[in-house]
Amino acid sequence: MKTLFDETRIGPVTLRNRFIRSATWEAMADSAGHPTERLVEVYRNLARGGVGLIITSATLIIPDATGPPGMLAIHDDSFIPEYRDLTSMIHRNGCPVVMQLVFPGRNGGMWSPAVPSHEEIHAIVRSFGESAVRAKDAGFDGVQIHAGHGYFLSQFLNAKKNTRTDNYAGSAGNRARFILEIFDEIRARAGKDFGVLIKINCSDFEEDDGVFEACRYACGRLAARGIDAIEITGGAGSVPGLKETGFEESVLRNYAAEIAREVSVPVIMVGVNRTLSVMDQLLNSTGIGYFSLSRPLLRQPDLVNLWENDPGTVSECLSCDQCRQPEGNICLFAS
Ligand SMILES: Cc1cc2nc3c(=O)[nH]c(=O)nc-3n(C[C@H](O)[C@H](O)[C@H](O)COP(=O)(O)O)c2cc1C
Repeated sequence: MKTLFDETRIGPVTLRNRFIRSATWEAMADSAGHPTERLVEVYRNLARGGVGLIITSATLIIPDATGPPGMLAIHDDSFIPEYRDLTSMIHRNGCPVVMQLVFPGRNGGMWSPAVPSHEEIHAIVRSFGESAVRAKDAGFDGVQIHAGHGYFLSQFLNAKKNTRTDNYAGSAGNRARFILEIFDEIRARAGKDFGVLIKINCSDFEEDDGVFEACRYACGRLAARGIDAIEITGGAGSVPGLKETGFEESVLRNYAAEIAREVSVPVIMVGVNRTLSVMDQLLNSTGIGYFSLSRPLLRQPDLVNLWENDPGTVSECLSCDQCRQPEGNICLFAS
């Protein structure tokens, strides 16, 4: 029988349990995307709070990227020394850390798949690879490709939103092509001993979006090429819930279990994971191996330590979504 507190490996790293901090934009970087002392403190609390792996907030890979305020960036080598300090601190607290990389669009616009030329697509692929090498130099244990939540990459998976007319659109294989090229580029540049993960939408929960078909295709190919873990997410705008999935908790369980049946690499599931007994049951009845958390750790960064000490601990997160605050993303109810 598996337990939520098993020590396991994902790619090059050992995790002290099966809980992962899912990427969560803190809105605490300075205006140039550099980490601030306040942001470092968030990571100190997370590393001490017991999670098995931290995934950073989405980090911008190009200089003129369009993102919400206070996002981290890694688009040139000047970022490396301060990230080295950050990764050393997290490692000293016994936790591995992976940087999430994102491309939202550039020059002030959130991009859709129709925007870039082939040359621009290749430039974006290259930027992912170069950013991964910087992350490796800075001591991160790996990177995660952000292909979820209606952001640029996940829109390629959506048959309705991907209106291109070339070989990046049409069949599921074509819609997954861009993501596969990014994975190949990162692996080729950063090497086999560096973790590469993906967070990918299983559904946008829009009519005939075709996302699950392209997600399955992408996951199958990524697993065959040696990706270290796949985090299943969903929704394009808001976190899916009971209405979209039929579940109040661990809402993407059926999608994640289906992907886990098809691939032989670790599968992580995000989305309203709140109760230890529910996750324990899913761990032992499906192939889902890891449970990632975002909002509950804004409320209680030490939730995993609390769960380990008392399995009956209830997550105090209300899933109220009021954590996006202009002066930094915090839980309004946290003590
Ligand atoms: C304030 C906030 C910021 C987020 N930032 C990111 C992000 O940078 N990258 C990402 O992949 N998901 C991001 N998410 C989504 C979460 O990682 C997660 O997928 C979602 O909140 C569902 O998980 P939960 O029920 O544990 O909160 C963010 C969510 C919140 C509430």
